[in-house]
Amino acid sequence: MDNQSFRSQFPILNQMVHNKPLVYLDNGATTQKPQCVIDAITNYYTTINSNVHRGVHHLSQLSTDAFESARKTVKEFLGATHSCEIILTKGTTESINLLAYSFGEAFIGEGDEIITTEMEHHANIVPWQLLCERKKAILKVIEVDAKGNLDWTSFEKLLTSKTKLVSVAHISNTLGTINPIERIIESAHKAGAKVHVDGAQSVAHMPINVANSDVDFFSFSAHKMYGPMGIGVLYGKESLLNQMPPYQSGGEMIDQVSFEKTTFNTLPFKFEAGTPDVPGLLGLEAAIKFLQNLGMENIKDAEEDLFNYAVEKLSKIDGLEIFGEADNKASVISFLLQGIHPFDAGTILDQLGVAVRTGNHCAQPIMAKFGITGTIRASMAIYNTKADIDRLAEAIIKTQTMLL
Ligand code: ALA
Repeated sequence: MDNQSFRSQFPILNQMVHNKPLVYLDNGATTQKPQCVIDAITNYYTTINSNVHRGVHHLSQLSTDAFESARKTVKEFLGATHSCEIILTKGTTESINLLAYSFGEAFIGEGDEIITTEMEHHANIVPWQLLCERKKAILKVIEVDAKGNLDWTSFEKLLTSKTKLVSVAHISNTLGTINPIERIIESAHKAGAKVHVDGAQSVAHMPINVANSDVDFFSFSAHKMYGPMGIGVLYGKESLLNQMPPYQSGGEMIDQVSFEKTTFNTLPFKFEAGTPDVPGLLGLEAAIKFLQNLGMENIKDAEEDLFNYAVEKLSKIDGLEIFGEADNKASVISFLLQGIHPFDAGTILDQLGVAVRTGNHCAQPIMAKFGITGTIRASMAIYNTKADIDRLAEAIIKTQTMLL
C-alpha cells in the first residue's frame, strides 16, 4: 500500500501544510477519507435523498433500500448473525452511553459490579461511573503493568459472581496495547458476566468477528475507519438487546402511541429514534467495502511492518521515551521528549508539516498511572509510509535542536 496511486485515493493527503507536504499521523483521532467514501455521500444527496421507512414514494423506497442494504454490509463486516443486531449511533461514545443506560436499566442493581481497565478512554469510564452512581453499583478497575499490559491477576481477583459486565478497549488509544479480548470474554462468561468491547481503535486495523469471539456488545465509530464523522455502531446480541429498554424515544422507535400507553418497535429500530444519518451509513458502507478490497489481514500485516519500522527508528533518538511497550501492540506510539513539553513538540512538528496528537488523549487515569500529564502520539493508518516515519523522525530531531 506504499505507493502514490494508493495514497491519491485520499485527496486531503495531497496538500502542503506550512509549505511542507503533509504527513498525517493523527489517525487514532480520525482517519482521512478515500474518494469512494466522499462520493457515496455526495451521490446520496445528488440522487436519492429522502427519509427512510416513512414514504411510499420512489425516492423514499430507494433511500430505505440503500440504508438497509448498508446495515447488512456492516453486519457481514462484523460477522454478526442478524442485521437487527446492528444499532446505528453517532459514534462509539453514544454507543457506550446507550449501553450504559439501557443495559444498566435492564441488568444492573444495587451492589452489582462492573469492571473496566486503567487504560480506557474517558468514554469507556464515565458512562459506567454515572451508571454506578444511579444504581448504587460498584465500578472496579483492572490494573495495567509498567509495559502497558493488562494485569491478568488483577482481573482474576476482580471478577466475581457479582460482576455483571466487563467493558474493555480492544486497543488502547494511548498505549496501543491490543487486549486479549477472547481470553477476557471466556473468563467473564464463565463468571456469568457479559462483555462489551470498545472497538474504536481496532475496527480499521484488524479482522473482527463478533460471533466467533462471542462478545456480547461491540462498539465503534465510522470516522476512525475511513468513514464519515457522526455515525457509529453498537453491536449487541439479539437476545440481550431484546431485553433492554429504549435509550432515546420519539419517531421510528415506536409501534403504537396513545396518551395512555406506547409500545415499541422491534430491533434495531427500538434503539434508533428520529431520522437516522442515511448518507453517513452509506459512507460507512463505502469505507467497509474499501477495507474489504484491501483485506483486513493485509492491512494488519502492513501496519505491523510500518509500526516495527517506526519503533526501530524512534528508539534511536536520544531523549525520546516511549510509553506503552506491551507484548501485543497496534500501530500507535506514545512518547515524550526529555525537557520538552508535548504541546511545544506538537506545535513545532506541525510547523514541519507533521500532524500528531498531543495531550492526555481523553485517558487521564492512564496518564496519572504513568505519572505524566500527556504524551505526543503518532498513530498510523494504511496510507502511511516509511517515508512518513522518516519525516517524523527528522522533525523530532529538528524539534529537539530548536527547543533544547
Ligand atoms: N478518541 C480519539 C483519540 O484517541 C479522539 O484521539
